[in-house]
Parts: sequence; structure tokens; C-alpha cells
Amino acid sequence: MADTATGRYRIAVIGAGGKMGMRVSNNLVKTDHDVRYSENSPAGQERVTATGRTLTDTATAIADADIVVLAVPDLALGPVTAEIVPQLQPGAIVLTLDPAAAYAGLLTTRDDVIQAVAHPCHPSVFLERTSKEEWADTFGGIAAPQDAIAAIESDDPAKRSIVEATVRAIYAPVINVHWVTVKQLAQLEPTFVETVACMIGALLNEALEEAVNTMGVPEAAARSILFGHTQVALANGLRGDNPFSDACLIAMDYGRESIIKEDWKKIFRDDELDKNLAKMLHLDKIER
Ligand SMILES: NC(=O)c1ccc[n+]([C@@H]2O[C@H](COP(=O)([O-])OP(=O)(O)OC[C@H]3O[C@@H](n4cnc5c(N)ncnc54)[C@H](O)[C@@H]3O)[C@@H](O)[C@H]2O)c1
Repeated sequence: MADTATGRYRIAVIGAGGKMGMRVSNNLVKTDHDVRYSENSPAGQERVTATGRTLTDTATAIADADIVVLAVPDLALGPVTAEIVPQLQPGAIVLTLDPAAAYAGLLTTRDDVIQAVAHPCHPSVFLERTSKEEWADTFGGIAAPQDAIAAIESDDPAKRSIVEATVRAIYAPVINVHWVTVKQLAQLEPTFVETVACMIGALLNEALEEAVNTMGVPEAAARSILFGHTQVALANGLRGDNPFSDACLIAMDYGRESIIKEDWKKIFRDDELDKNLAKMLHLDKIER
């Protein structure tokens, strides 16, 4: 099967016309890997063929695949794995791009098919960017280097190499691939980065709207002071670049008391993760 000597693998992308499918395919075409593309919606099929890529049906795409990249919506991962996993070659790897469905036990599995998950970290806010393309690439996968987090349910180093090569290709340019368990990946995403970090990003935008609409501050002034202070908050808070001033620390305490619930760290508990995932996956509860 896999040509480990050359590092050239047979990769199937399912959902090739979706947001992630297009991103990963745009990178895979630049590699030597033997890539097959499958997409079932007419709009997605049009997006794929518009790039000059050829589509195949899913059964053909996965028939001799070393690794299958499932770029389908999380809610489709159950039915899609139920369809494809029984058809895979023994030793094939199924790679999902988000841990929720895998951790929730929604995927069809097989003893001789390996389950893996990989999520992009996105380029760091502290990345030293040296070109306009790197500045523009906030998501990653185009020009700005990023790390990726991966999990694999196998001890076989050859399988891990295939996943790492695929992850490095689909999210390129990649600096480091960090290995964790599927559960840890589910704790990182959603809890750590979506529930906390993305929520705070959205909260900053709400605060900006308050500054403009409730306080009547000119929008340009509000944006300017917020964007600069956001950089200082992250540099001081996450990297310790400078100490916060004494007055700032008092204002921060007022913010914490007024905005943050005392028991907020409960979000890191397993039962809360299950509640979060159940909502995301539109389930009554997670049963595993
Ligand atoms: N969008 C993001 O920013 C992002 C980031 C990281 C990871 N992810 C993960 O990537 C995965 C895909 O998400 P997305 O946002 O790209 O979804 P999307 O809805 O943009 O694309 C999914 C594509 O899969 C196709 N599809 C659905 N069922 C199919 C089937 N049976 N066979 C072939 N094609 C099928 C759809 O037509 C669609 O084109 C999810 O697991 C998501 O959590 C998304």
C-alpha cells in the first residue's frame, strides 16, 4: 500500500468542494501525493472542477487510499464513515479535521482501519510575518506558517508518518505537528480555543459596538485604541512582554468581578465538554 520509502501516499479528499475541502485540495495539488477528490453537492462539484481538478465518486476515491481526509460537515461524519469505512483497505487511515465527532463516538470504526484527527492551530498572533501574503493569511494554509495538532489511534510509527505527511501537506506551511490524544484535542477545540479564545474575540467586538453606539465614541478612535490595547493585552498577558500598570490591574480586577463567573473553569470538566459537544453536534447527549 503506502510508499513509505518515497513518502508519496494515496490520499482521498471527501467533501473536496467545501471550505476545508477546497483549502486542503489547493495545497495537495502542489505535492507529489496521488490525490483523489470526491464531492456530492452540485455547487461543491462546480467549485472543484472550476480549479481544473477532476472528481471521482467516493468508492473510487477511497478504494486503494492510504488515508482518507474527511472534509465533510461534522454532522455528516457519522453517515459518511458508515458508508466508507467498510469499503477501505485494511490499514487505511481515516482523518477527520475536527475531534468532536470522533470523541463523541459517532464515527463508524473498524479494528483494521485507523482513526486520526488533525486540526490547524492557525498562524500565531505572535508570528514574525515578513511578507504581505503572510500578513493576509490569518487562517493559515496559504502563506503564513502555522502549527497543527494531531491525534492517532495507533502505535504504528509508519501510520503516524502518513498522518504527519498529510497534515503537513494539507495545512502547509506547517512548522510543528503536536501529538495529543483525541480527548485532549477535543478539550483544546472547542473548549480551550472556541469556548474561551473565540468567545473573547467576539466579546471584544461587542465592546467595540458599545463604545461606538452607547458611548458615542467616533468609530475610528474606538477601533484604534482597541486594536492597540488588544495587542498589549495579549503580549503582556500571554508572553509577559511588559507588566500591566497598577491602575490597569485594578481595572482588570473590576472586569473579572463584573464579567466572569466565579465557577467559569467548570468548562474544563469532562461532563461540561460533553454538554458543549452535544450542542455542537445537535445531540440530546453524548453517549459513548
Ligand atoms: N471551516 C473551518 O474553518 C474549519 C476549520 C477547521 C476544521 N474544520 C472541519 O472541517 C470539516 C469540514 O468543514 P467545512 O467547514 O469545510 O464544511 P463545508 O460545509 O464547508 O463543506 C463540506 C463539504 O462536504 C460535502 N459533502 C457532504 N457530504 C458528502 C458526502 N457524503 N460525500 C462527498 N461530499 C460530501 C458538502 O457538499 C460540502 O461541499 C468539519 O469537520 C469541520 O469541523 C472546519
